[in-house]
Amino acid sequence: MRNIIIAIDGYSSCGKSTLARDLASALRFGYVDSGAMYRAVTLYFLNHSIDYDDRAAVIEALRHIRIEFRNINHQNRTFLNGQDVEDDIRDMRVSSAVSPVAAIPEVRRALVQQQKALGQTGGIVMDGRDIGTVVFPDAELKIFLTADPDERVRRRQLELTAKGLELTEESVRENLLERDRIDSTRADSPLRQADDAIVIDNTLLNRQEQLELALQLAHETMKQPA
Ligand code: DC
Repeated sequence: MRNIIIAIDGYSSCGKSTLARDLASALRFGYVDSGAMYRAVTLYFLNHSIDYDDRAAVIEALRHIRIEFRNINHQNRTFLNGQDVEDDIRDMRVSSAVSPVAAIPEVRRALVQQQKALGQTGGIVMDGRDIGTVVFPDAELKIFLTADPDERVRRRQLELTAKGLELTEESVRENLLERDRIDSTRADSPLRQADDAIVIDNTLLNRQEQLELALQLAHETMKQPA
């Protein structure tokens, strides 16, 4: 069996991270949540009042940002300069600001470089928006995950409620669709389906069903000669 790279891309809140995490654990692969890296940079920019339009300030700030993932109590957690920011990067303040930050070419360049390094040895599942197109254009398996927007809003709201955040359906929808719009229309590596990606629409699939489908694809790919 080959130690392949699995790239999972798709719109916001269609379950990419859940699938990526489940796949990585079933295959005993590493997992990288590339969105968490954009979120960590956003948190740093917000906390240090970095003006996104000031190129020099952005470049200087990036020099002071160190992002790592650590496994704590079987949970993959994001650390920014040695501090656990996993909860902070999921809040609305970061969610509302992350897409413009992810559109800054200097930010993308720095993070893509780190993402490529994380995948060097293979045996990895990475999810995001440009993994199959820019970060790993040669990934052995590319999955483009989609789901109906109403279903995505419902899932996102459930996720936020579970964290004790009560937001109206309207504000959740607005944030989600606005992020989709910015992510897929930005000039630098916009979200798009790679030509050789396999589309999985999980609107009507549960977590186990989507995992089984993806695992089947992974096993088929791993059996193929390099
Ligand atoms: O997957 P997520 O919602 O945590 O991603 C947060 C933001 O980061 C999202 O608006 C798009 C951006 N992103 C990106 O541009 N490229 C990636 N590879 C991953 C995320």
